[in-house]
Amino acid sequence: MNTKEKTDKFIMNTYSRFPLTLERGEGVCIYDEKGKKYLDFTAGIAVNALGYGNKNVINSALNQMNKLFHVSNLYYTSPMAELAKKLVEKSCFDKVFFCNSGAEANEAAFKLARKYGYLHKNGASKVISMKNSFHGRTLATITLTGQTKYQQGFSPLVENILYAEYNNLKSVEKLIDNEVCAIFTEPVQGEGGLLPAKKEFLEGLRKICDENNILLIFDEVQTGIGRTGKLFCYENFNVTPDILTLAKGLGGGLPIGAMLAKDFVASSFSSGDHASTFGGNPVSCAAANSVLNEIETKNILQNVQEQGEYLIKKLKEIKSPHIKDVRGLGLMVGVELDIEAKEITLKCLEHGLLLISAGKNVLRFVPPLIISKNEIDEGVEILKKIME
Ligand SMILES: Cc1ncc(COP(=O)(O)O)c(C=O)c1O
Repeated sequence: MNTKEKTDKFIMNTYSRFPLTLERGEGVCIYDEKGKKYLDFTAGIAVNALGYGNKNVINSALNQMNKLFHVSNLYYTSPMAELAKKLVEKSCFDKVFFCNSGAEANEAAFKLARKYGYLHKNGASKVISMKNSFHGRTLATITLTGQTKYQQGFSPLVENILYAEYNNLKSVEKLIDNEVCAIFTEPVQGEGGLLPAKKEFLEGLRKICDENNILLIFDEVQTGIGRTGKLFCYENFNVTPDILTLAKGLGGGLPIGAMLAKDFVASSFSSGDHASTFGGNPVSCAAANSVLNEIETKNILQNVQEQGEYLIKKLKEIKSPHIKDVRGLGLMVGVELDIEAKEITLKCLEHGLLLISAGKNVLRFVPPLIISKNEIDEGVEILKKIME
């Protein structure tokens, strides 16, 4: 049995995979088991921020592996403490909770918001989330996800989660009462179609939250760690949330999630309120420390801003009646089609370009943040030939 056959036989059927077995990567390129090269515009779904084979990240993880893989949160470890310090110093937050994925980070944020409502707002437990959002696959996070296709078959869902229209303040205002403890949103909707929030929308949410003692929570699982040209996406809008969640890019490919919060919120959790055996794993934290160092010392954010603009410009030059819109922020770019995006991603694969969709009709471009102009030219040329 080859890898594909073994996977299809022994792994539960929750994914539809591309017919491709990958073996190794280098920079922005990835190679299959036969040695065929692909330009990777997916980065493991917006994860591999520094591409493949970054020596500094590898060495940090290897050094840590030689010392300790895991000890649990019953003890102190230096990579975790160092990473928390860095995240706090680079953001507007005071405290960090580490976990292993985006869904877990959002689950932690949801629990922290409920605990805040319990302690400081007469037990307020309602949480407002946005239609067309995506927040993960646990029960609380599929309920937060404002798309019924992720919820079907899993009822009863978590209670007291309400949905507003993204970028529509009036629809949020209609849901506000004394029982609301938090508003959850992505500053750029990812799975929902690479749709950036309007600045006025996020400013309006901040105002509503301030006036009503409601927590503002940004899910930056996909937008965080440089993806939109700033270390955190909220910096693009000058709107600061009270809680922020991270995962994807943080470990440069190793699993890690984080929830960051301001002191007045973080203090609602006491010892024993929340936990994760693997949270703050020393190897993942060592890699994440190195990712943050690389972003700072290699001018990665500037590259994201420049290449993001260039990518949008090049995509807009493609002449195809099937392209309805090109949009995005930094290196989080979407091309909306009037046909199924999956069809196009399969054709791109045949021609050596890895691309994924967001929803049914949007092509999603989330390449490694180190991508160059030449690599963008090469990838867009492949898509152009297919689309035209
Ligand atoms: C905005 C957002 N939140 C949460 C998640 C869930 O993250 P994970 O798959 O690591 O649980 C994702 C994953 O795509 C995401 O894009």
